[in-house]
Amino acid sequence: MESKLLKSSLVNKLKIEKVRKKDFEKLIKVYEEAYRDLKDYAEEGYENILKYLNWLYKQDKEGFFVAKLNDEIIGFICADKNWTKDRGEIHEFVVSPKYQGLGIGKKLFETALEYLRKSGKKCVGLWVGEKNEKAKNFYKKYGFEYKGKIKIWEKYLKKFEEVDGE
Ligand SMILES: CC(C)(COP(=O)(O)OP(=O)(O)OC[C@H]1O[C@@H](n2cnc3c(N)ncnc32)[C@H](O)[C@@H]1OP(=O)(O)O)[C@@H](O)C(=O)NCCC(=O)NCCS
Repeated sequence: MESKLLKSSLVNKLKIEKVRKKDFEKLIKVYEEAYRDLKDYAEEGYENILKYLNWLYKQDKEGFFVAKLNDEIIGFICADKNWTKDRGEIHEFVVSPKYQGLGIGKKLFETALEYLRKSGKKCVGLWVGEKNEKAKNFYKKYGFEYKGKIKIWEKYLKKFEEVDGE
């Protein structure tokens, strides 16, 4: 009960905002922390991560959202409406480890899905590391389906129509 209350009060205080370039320093820290135990699937080193964040920003800055708690950035997600005509892509999704499991990912993810759906996309895709069970379970809960594998990466896809009945 107590943890449920804590969870809902945290999520109520959470703000989801569009990223600003000046947030990048903080995003690098959050990214490094979140991938500490998943290094096979992450960029390594300050310069590489910064380059990657710039690439994400260039792809679609309108779909790049940060989660803020008391003005501190604790997670982010990058949705790309420019990936293909019909398909949006979620390129990146992280929550700082000490805030994981509290529903923050859920709020970020739903913001990104809504953004892509409203942009007129028919479906959304993403790639996830083969051993990243937590993230894979997360995506399956949202109706994403496994569509194949390249090396250590698994591809997942969700059609908006099937889930939303539109
Ligand atoms: C994937 C990630 C962003 C999820 O963020 P999060 O804030 O922990 O997610 P939430 O708290 O919203 O959890 C949503 C669901 O994830 C699952 N989940 C969360 N924490 C979990 C844990 N500790 N153990 C097992 N499942 C867990 C639950 O199914 C939960 O659903 P529920 O609320 O119905 O129980 C986060 O774990 C993360 O940053 N991971 C490292 C980076 C990464 O792997 N990114 C994805 C790359 S493809």
